[in-house]
Amino acid sequence: MDQMAQTILITGASTGIGQETAKYFLKKGWNVAATMRNPDAATGFDAHDRLKLLHLDVLDTGSIDAAITATIAEFGSINVLLNNAGYGTQGPIEAASSEQIARQFDTNVTGLIAVMQAIIPHFRGNKSGTIINVSSIGGRITLPFYSLYHGTKWAVEGITESLTFELGQFGIRMKLIEPGAIATDFGGRSMDYLEKEGLDAYDDMLARFNKARDEAVKSSAAPIDVAKVIYKAATDNSSRLRYLVGKDAKLFWRLRRVFGDSFILNAVKRRLG
Ligand SMILES: NC(=O)c1ccc[n+]([C@@H]2O[C@H](COP(=O)([O-])OP(=O)(O)OC[C@H]3O[C@@H](n4cnc5c(N)ncnc54)[C@H](OP(=O)(O)O)[C@@H]3O)[C@@H](O)[C@H]2O)c1
Repeated sequence: MDQMAQTILITGASTGIGQETAKYFLKKGWNVAATMRNPDAATGFDAHDRLKLLHLDVLDTGSIDAAITATIAEFGSINVLLNNAGYGTQGPIEAASSEQIARQFDTNVTGLIAVMQAIIPHFRGNKSGTIINVSSIGGRITLPFYSLYHGTKWAVEGITESLTFELGQFGIRMKLIEPGAIATDFGGRSMDYLEKEGLDAYDDMLARFNKARDEAVKSSAAPIDVAKVIYKAATDNSSRLRYLVGKDAKLFWRLRRVFGDSFILNAVKRRLG
């Protein structure tokens, strides 16, 4: 424990971007509360006196409050919240059950809001704090079959941007991290594939989409690339809101910004038929 060091609390730190970011901040001398649904099963972390592994499920407000209280008790204060926990859904929207739709929005949107609500009083009391929400380039552009996931990330974009006004007055900074494809468990255990018995009307387009996606993920960036950008967002003392990560994310956004909505929508349609 180092009461003088800055402290970050990270959600979804069991693997991928969350774990890599926890390790990076630790290396940079920060206190790290790496929270996850199942800390007893955590792998990939070495014990460290500035690292605390804590239980936090974004769907359980009691666990959010307990993790924040335990972090403040251990490290004295929290300077940065990294809202990273999340997962995706892929498939035709008509194949999604109401439970799948609710869980996608409950986790990626309502859960993210719940963690912010729990930490804002602490940041307001300190007259400082940084909330970094992990969005996606999928929060600024869209692809087929990710409609629910896009819906959550576009929501995260709007919510975070709006909060710059009401929280800015208390010295609280808002940041959005917008990665492109990153090599993590996201496309595996963190992807809920939507399927419905007898629904085959989308199969041709889905096959073309899956082929294009498999090709694209071959050039995924590494989670460390995201961790470094998150560190920059936490420490650059700027009011900058958005941070793209990865060549694909930067290209997609440049195409949309320079050529407009129709250009990028038509380009995706041409590619997928
Ligand atoms: N990889 C990409 O290509 C990519 C691109 C853009 C944005 N992102 C975003 O990056 C973030 C991290 O994903 P990742 O790529 O690092 O994938 P990952 O390795 O699969 O990590 C996802 C994390 O979210 C956690 N999580 C899921 N539901 C949770 C809940 N209810 N409460 C707490 N934690 C929960 C998982 O915990 P468990 O271990 O308990 O399942 C896991 O730690 C997500 O928000 C994702 O949308 C990823």
